Amino acid sequence: MRLDKDYLMELELWSHFELRSLGHKIMPPPPTSAPAPSQAATSAVAPARAVANPTAKTSVAAPSVATPQPAAARQARVDAPMPVDPARLEKISRADWTTLAEISANCTVCTLCKQRKQVVFGVGAQSAQWLFIGEGPGAEEDESGEPFVGQAGKLLDAMLTAAGLQRGREVYIANVVKCRPPGNRTPLPEEAAACAPLLDRQIELIRPKIIVALGRTAIARLTGSEAAMAAVRGRAHTYRNIPVIATYHPAYLLRNLPEKLKAWEDLQLAKRTFSGD
Ligand code: URA
Repeated sequence: MRLDKDYLMELELWSHFELRSLGHKIMPPPPTSAPAPSQAATSAVAPARAVANPTAKTSVAAPSVATPQPAAARQARVDAPMPVDPARLEKISRADWTTLAEISANCTVCTLCKQRKQVVFGVGAQSAQWLFIGEGPGAEEDESGEPFVGQAGKLLDAMLTAAGLQRGREVYIANVVKCRPPGNRTPLPEEAAACAPLLDRQIELIRPKIIVALGRTAIARLTGSEAAMAAVRGRAHTYRNIPVIATYHPAYLLRNLPEKLKAWEDLQLAKRTFSGD
């Protein structure tokens, strides 16, 4: 794995690597002070993006970072009651990318459709080997139509870069729900359930070699586990025979900077799992 001093400093992980003496040959950082947390997120390299949502508009909105949610609202189970429309499920199960994007763009299965500006379908190469799954769009994603473009997205891009990955190249990014939950709250179980067939079909079409679940909502959606992140990270889970690594949501990391080291360790585990080491 590439260990680049600048990226590690950007992620504020440099001191951890210095202290832990991992034996990697990296030059020490210059004597300037490390960037402040907010700068670290905003100064992250933002690589070129491949937008897979044909309906995406572009405009700028205020940064949004999800706020902590009460435990009862944090679940994204798919066993919640949902209106079952067998014809819709059948159509989704056979959909190609164009049809799936159309179905998503016109979806009114749950009430999130009422306040959305746009459906945030997903972004990246349709044959990406890496799939990162977040929770749901925030205000900026709702404006732009692309996942993870706000502050959390900038941190995610920095993390990807540090791991030698790039959005739009070998990485596809999607969310548990494709429409913004009001106030950036955690999606309700019935909302996650309504979106589940769309995400499932996306995963079938992408056929990623590995999935990284960003936060509890994503890992709950993929594995059914509602355990705390501390209990589910550090080992590979599976979703339909695809290895799944759980890590902290970038928005959580923005509020809990010391946890970035754990996220970095999770990415290293994902890299090892990806290469079968
Ligand atoms: N948080 C998410 O989980 N997904 C996004 O797309 C943006 C923020």
